[in-house]
Amino acid sequence: MLLPSFVLWLSLQLCSATVTLYPTQGQKPLTASTNTGNTATPTATGGVNSNVRLTPPPVPSPLPAMTFPIQLQTSGTVNLSIPQFPGFMGFSLEMSVANQVLGKNSSLIQVPFLNLMGTLQERSGRVNIRVGGNSQENAVLVDLNSLPNGRVIAKGDGAQNPTHTPALLFTADLLYMMRNISDMVNVYWFLGAPFNDSQNFRLQIVEQGQAILGQYLMAIQVGNEPDLYPGRLRPDNYTQSDFFGEWANFITAIRTDPNIKNTTMLMGPSISSNGHFTEQQMWDTGFVDSYSENIAFLTTEHYPDNNCAAIFNNGGTPVNYQAQFPNYLNHQAGLNSISGFVASANFAQSKGKRYLMMETNTASCGGFPGISDSFGAAIWAVDYALTLAFQNFSSANFHVGGQAAFYNPFTPPPTNESSFSSWTVGPIFYAAVVVAEALGTQTSQVLDLGANSQSIFTPAYAIYENGAPVRMVLINYITDPSGQSTYTAQISVGNVTPSQIKVKYLSGYSVSDKYNFTWAGQSMGGVSESNGLFTGQENITTIPCNGGTCNVTVPAPAVALVFLSDSAIETAASPTSFTTSVFTKTHNTATVAKSVLATSNGHSGKDRDTNDLSTSRGSSNDASTSRQVFGLWGTLSIVLITALLHRRFIPVF
Ligand SMILES: *[C@@H]1O[C@H](CO)[C@@H](O)[C@H](O)[C@H]1NC(C)=O
Ligand SMILES: *[C@@H]1O[C@H](CO)[C@@H](O)[C@H](O)[C@H]1NC(C)=O
Ligand SMILES: *[C@@H]1O[C@H](CO)[C@@H](O)[C@H](O)[C@H]1NC(C)=O
Ligand SMILES: *[C@@H]1O[C@H](CO)[C@@H](O)[C@H](O)[C@H]1NC(C)=O
Repeated sequence: MLLPSFVLWLSLQLCSATVTLYPTQGQKPLTASTNTGNTATPTATGGVNSNVRLTPPPVPSPLPAMTFPIQLQTSGTVNLSIPQFPGFMGFSLEMSVANQVLGKNSSLIQVPFLNLMGTLQERSGRVNIRVGGNSQENAVLVDLNSLPNGRVIAKGDGAQNPTHTPALLFTADLLYMMRNISDMVNVYWFLGAPFNDSQNFRLQIVEQGQAILGQYLMAIQVGNEPDLYPGRLRPDNYTQSDFFGEWANFITAIRTDPNIKNTTMLMGPSISSNGHFTEQQMWDTGFVDSYSENIAFLTTEHYPDNNCAAIFNNGGTPVNYQAQFPNYLNHQAGLNSISGFVASANFAQSKGKRYLMMETNTASCGGFPGISDSFGAAIWAVDYALTLAFQNFSSANFHVGGQAAFYNPFTPPPTNESSFSSWTVGPIFYAAVVVAEALGTQTSQVLDLGANSQSIFTPAYAIYENGAPVRMVLINYITDPSGQSTYTAQISVGNVTPSQIKVKYLSGYSVSDKYNFTWAGQSMGGVSESNGLFTGQENITTIPCNGGTCNVTVPAPAVALVFLSDSAIETAASPTSFTTSVFTKTHNTATVAKSVLATSNGHSGKDRDTNDLSTSRGSSNDASTSRQVFGLWGTLSIVLITALLHRRFIPVF
């Protein structure tokens, strides 16, 4: 059973692309230097409206054992990961679509987005978001208020930069908007510095980013997938040595810029591992030792697969989604996807650096309909994130593309349909909630238990604090409505097994389910049904333990988060409370952007091209914005206030 799936995955590795625009190695951009990133649009009925619903894989035969013991020790456990923090699962936002998701500008922030971040912040204390991607490379800072209709992002005509490629124009108000978001829901940011012109680095985003975001700016990404630069942003013969040299120039540039106060927050090399040179070749240049004092984090970007052939109709063979589905639905999926990076994670540790997955998701080029938007993807993402944590990565940012992407953790409605309660929350967001609660505190260490004789269908993890297990994540990838594949893990903990434990379930009827899953009984609704808050009664199962064993059943399919003590669960669930001063502040600062989807304008995906990026049609409905705002204070303020009162964590990195 293992072998065929391994071979299939290996072949996927070889043809996988980690970047949207350049699906195969060395391929030229499909449209010259456009900045669509992962927003490319597959079909007119793409994104959240996809009606692709796949058949769950058959119940495995032979079935793995459906009752098995897991014995944990309260001390001396080896092989634990480095300490992780609960916001391990963050997001990566293509810069060109930042104003679709975050808000129109600093005074019109998307409230559902704030609620989503508040939902996570309640559990993890903070959220990491990267704003960048391919579109960071040609970004040009223009004067405040110089873009029409209060916009913060627009497409330029190419006159603004030396290579005359159309630039992505942005104003400092994008950064003010981000700062305002941080002040409300404790979001920390990674920004990308433009790297298309290494003769004249445009450092304004570093200057302004530091000045405006302050402590909320974690690091500056220098170079995005430079192994894909040859023939694109650089000549064909560009190598890792050239990139190494350009880093030296970049460091000189920031050191001599009096407006840049911190020169030690760079991150790279952000190799795609699908281009003209490898990450190992990059390490071999002496990159880390040479620039160690300027490097805050080491980074990579990787997707397990790509949907570029279908998206770009580029002559490649489109993936058969049904055939592909089972490859996401077992524990090998995450392991195989990152097997090439384990050495780098250890190398980073040996150099005293953290190693971040700066951009990932189910598949590049928007993901796969039926897979990326299924309950199966939620299970996969929990397993994948915990595998990354166990393998000593320090965070994983799941990419958010435009309206037509299938893998989005959350998708705002098209401009003309914008309203407060019409976001779509996808499986990846549920996974982020589960992982945030599982990791719980910033001393969590993760162990892959190899449970049930390493069955790939029933993986399990234990989370340790100070050497003792506090929580467990039990996964069942199988879909079997008969109940025959519901398993029972017989858990015991050292000599002091608790008298009872509590369990929260991530539930769906089938791995094929789309949207409307539940986490501890609560849901974010179906397509276009969410305001960013869970609805429904929270449902936590208490399981008594007898004779030193706690029997936890895990339905097929499901993820079970087991809290081994009451204090382990208190960490994860925070009470809601109010203060007047916070309410006032909230009232004055956030409003609902009725029409923020400046780059989509409600077009079907197909006819949306980059020319739409600078239109201002999306602004026509602004008059109704303020009317909508005030009805929402109740909901908004509860979440924001909860969030503000529960900044339990000082940033760890
Ligand atoms: C945000 O956009 C609105 C609508 O176009 C505009 O009225 C407002 O002045 C803008 N805010 C900022 C800070 O630019
Ligand atoms: C939001 O941004 C604007 C700048 O456009 C600023 O005047 C305002 O004070 C900010 N609000 C908060 C809460 O930081
Ligand atoms: C992760 O790092 C820890 C601490 O150095 C180490 O003990 C552990 O073996 C590493 N894990 C893996 C999978 O390499
Ligand atoms: C929004 O625009 C799309 C495409 O132009 C159209 O199909 C849809 O009906 C519009 N929705 C509303 C509510 O007007």
